[in-house]
Amino acid sequence: MPVLGAVGERFAAAPGLAGLRIAACLHLTAETAVFARVLRAGGARVALCAANPLSTQDEVVAALLAEGEVEVSAARGEPRAAYAAHLARLASSAPQVMIDDGAELIVCAHEQGATAGLIGAVENTSPGLVRLRAMAADGALRCAILAVNEALTERIFNDRYGTGQSTLDGVLRATNILLAGRTVVVLGYGFAGRGVARRAQGAGAVVVVCEVDPLRALEARMDGFAVMPALAAAALGDVFITVSGAPSVLRGEHFELMRDRAVLANAGHFDVEIDLPALAAAAVDPPREVLPLVDEYVLADGRRLHLLAKGRVVNLAAAAGHPAEVMDTSFALQALAVEHLARAGGSLEAGVHPLAVELDREVARLKLASLGIEIDELDERQQRYVRSFR
Ligand SMILES: NC(=O)c1ccc[n+]([C@@H]2O[C@H](COP(=O)([O-])OP(=O)(O)OC[C@H]3O[C@@H](n4cnc5c(N)ncnc54)[C@H](O)[C@@H]3O)[C@@H](O)[C@H]2O)c1
Repeated sequence: MPVLGAVGERFAAAPGLAGLRIAACLHLTAETAVFARVLRAGGARVALCAANPLSTQDEVVAALLAEGEVEVSAARGEPRAAYAAHLARLASSAPQVMIDDGAELIVCAHEQGATAGLIGAVENTSPGLVRLRAMAADGALRCAILAVNEALTERIFNDRYGTGQSTLDGVLRATNILLAGRTVVVLGYGFAGRGVARRAQGAGAVVVVCEVDPLRALEARMDGFAVMPALAAAALGDVFITVSGAPSVLRGEHFELMRDRAVLANAGHFDVEIDLPALAAAAVDPPREVLPLVDEYVLADGRRLHLLAKGRVVNLAAAAGHPAEVMDTSFALQALAVEHLARAGGSLEAGVHPLAVELDREVARLKLASLGIEIDELDERQQRYVRSFR
């Protein structure tokens, strides 16, 4: 994680977070531990709990506890009550900055009325931001939120390249099919969908894109993909990948038209994009697990549909999620966002704020440097020209 490492070196040289109390609710993985160490290097006091008990790596928790530099309250598979107790304790521990992955910690602090000393928070997920924006609209949000996952480097690394690659990795690990020559239907052409479509094309698949937004649909066409409604694509696809954020994007009317042994996978955050009750209703029997993470549904006319990972997010359920390189830029951005909040010192208004583009540029600069890539700079004359057109 060289980008985060570079931020850590700067923090260690001039600890700008000295004494800052940080509470973070994150997936407790090795990458998160590196992030926590970087915040410590900046002088912060860091307490961690799990964003999801199932993603907690106990050996990472043990290593952090043994080091004794960071407070950690989490265990893999901990019961709901223990998980909620950890969250509540962290929320009420008077943190100045929160780092969240789903807004649960931030919401918990609001529910406890424990937001008095809070300078601000960093939120890393789209559903979390939806919730926080709804709170802001109701006048219930009491602190500034930096929308890290809407920064451009996040969109590029996390959504496009991370999700693009790891989604296909999930499909391949579960099925071991050859993508070349197959028709892959991608439903949703946002940042994540663009990544999936491009990677599938690179693997030799014929890619069809389904969209509801005319701009995105046009962009997909200009990017060289076939574009059509899902009903038309249903009869053509060998592999269907939903990545839209919307419910029932694939439903009964589509299942009726699909080819024998069509593969259905979801890369959207929630398991609502493939209509699972409709799939169960279309099948003559309960599904049969034909391979690990592959459920076969047999329809009345004998066609078989293969659902991956029970419709859950396929890159996490059937593959290893994002590579460490993706988390490298993601956590570097979060570290810079925390520093930004600390410098602002509570002067940012309550509400959801975009991340300053300068932080995005800084992460891009560090990433380029880690790749040994140099780029040009505008000279003085060029700068004058582009600023004033003189
Ligand atoms: N698996 C992962 O690791 C991962 C990573 C990033 C995002 N996501 C999830 O993927 C989903 C999409 O994320 P995004 O950042 O690309 O969002 P986005 O909003 O940029 O794009 C979603 C696209 O889907 C389109 N869409 C909506 N309903 C549709 C429908 N019925 N049919 C076809 N297209 C439809 C929208 O018009 C939009 O262009 C979200 O659920 C997000 O949480 C997952």
